Amino acid sequence: MRAEARIDLDAVRHNITAVRDRVGAAQVMAVVKADAYGHGLVPCARAAREAGATWLGTAVPEEALALRAAGLDGRILTWLWVPGDPFAEAIAADIDISVSARWALAEVEAAARATGRPARVHLKADTGLGRNGCQPHDWDDLVEAALKAEADGLVHVVGLWSHFACADEPGHPSVPRQLAVFHDAVARAEQHGVVPEVRHMANSPAMLLLPESHFDLVRSGLATYGVSPVPDLHGPADLGLRPAMTLAATVANVKHVAEGHGVSYGHTWHSERATNLALVPLGYADGIPRHASSTGPVLVGGRRRTVVGRVAMDQFVVDLGGDTVEPGDEALVFGPGDRGEPTAEDWARAAGTIAYEIVTRIGARVPRVYLGAR
Ligand SMILES: Cc1ncc(COP(=O)(O)O)c(C=O)c1O
Repeated sequence: MRAEARIDLDAVRHNITAVRDRVGAAQVMAVVKADAYGHGLVPCARAAREAGATWLGTAVPEEALALRAAGLDGRILTWLWVPGDPFAEAIAADIDISVSARWALAEVEAAARATGRPARVHLKADTGLGRNGCQPHDWDDLVEAALKAEADGLVHVVGLWSHFACADEPGHPSVPRQLAVFHDAVARAEQHGVVPEVRHMANSPAMLLLPESHFDLVRSGLATYGVSPVPDLHGPADLGLRPAMTLAATVANVKHVAEGHGVSYGHTWHSERATNLALVPLGYADGIPRHASSTGPVLVGGRRRTVVGRVAMDQFVVDLGGDTVEPGDEALVFGPGDRGEPTAEDWARAAGTIAYEIVTRIGARVPRVYLGAR
């Protein structure tokens, strides 16, 4: 084993159960886009379903179709579409489709006509994120067009939804502003005649910190995998979550070097004294951020060490000081922290990024090994 990402599916089930306990009557969507944030699309989707996630969420249609191909039934919402995407295939596969603009509604209508069955649509409001979603000044027009398509038997408008910009920053003024705009968008849609099955707005930080954002459904992404979306406020344990991914590698080489020895490309690090170095066979091709050069923490030989020198494509070096380990010993890059290993949040701090990126970017070259599969 060069390296592997161990995925604890019991942790995924535990996290969905914890989310369900927290949100009461609201339904739970497990967001499994981007290969379940690097944890593996199908096994994580199955585990989330087993724990009672009634919805699955994907960004792009290929992900939703892959879930169906793997035999996952039940509700799946997909929200990031481009013109020419497989709308007809999605309708035939019973996938709920997010619509943010008239061009998408037109494609959905054409696909529904071709497929011979109506599409289930969630109209997305841009309540302030400024990314996808329909601006308030275009909302009535989109709603009316969707209701006309509904009258024509081409769509069912089942959802009204939006997404927060700053839910991970309690007290940020955009949060109540976005909630107010969403309430207004829902009211206007209902006045036009929409009877939504689900209104939804909450991502993980909103689900954890903002009960008034729960509405009928919460979209649990990062929390599903037991990683904190608000690491400066709460660690996973405070939130009742268990990290699901452990990234482990096998030490490839160990050597003694003299004082003043440069390490890795660019010689950005030199040993201050004679020391022992361990080579870990993971690099930026595997998702180890190059920005964690000389800062990333790793558990080797029972103690936390630090990456020295630049992270290369396939490998990095840690400084063991006066200790030593053997080639073949285990290096734990991150995990739940139970054994003293760093966490994904620690790596995010070391690399100046967010833990979302740390877990999601673990590369395809790293095999996922599933624990707790049923
Ligand atoms: C539209 C939408 N909803 C929900 C989520 C889940 O967010 P989180 O991982 O913070 O739960 C995402 C992820 O970015 C998203 O794009």
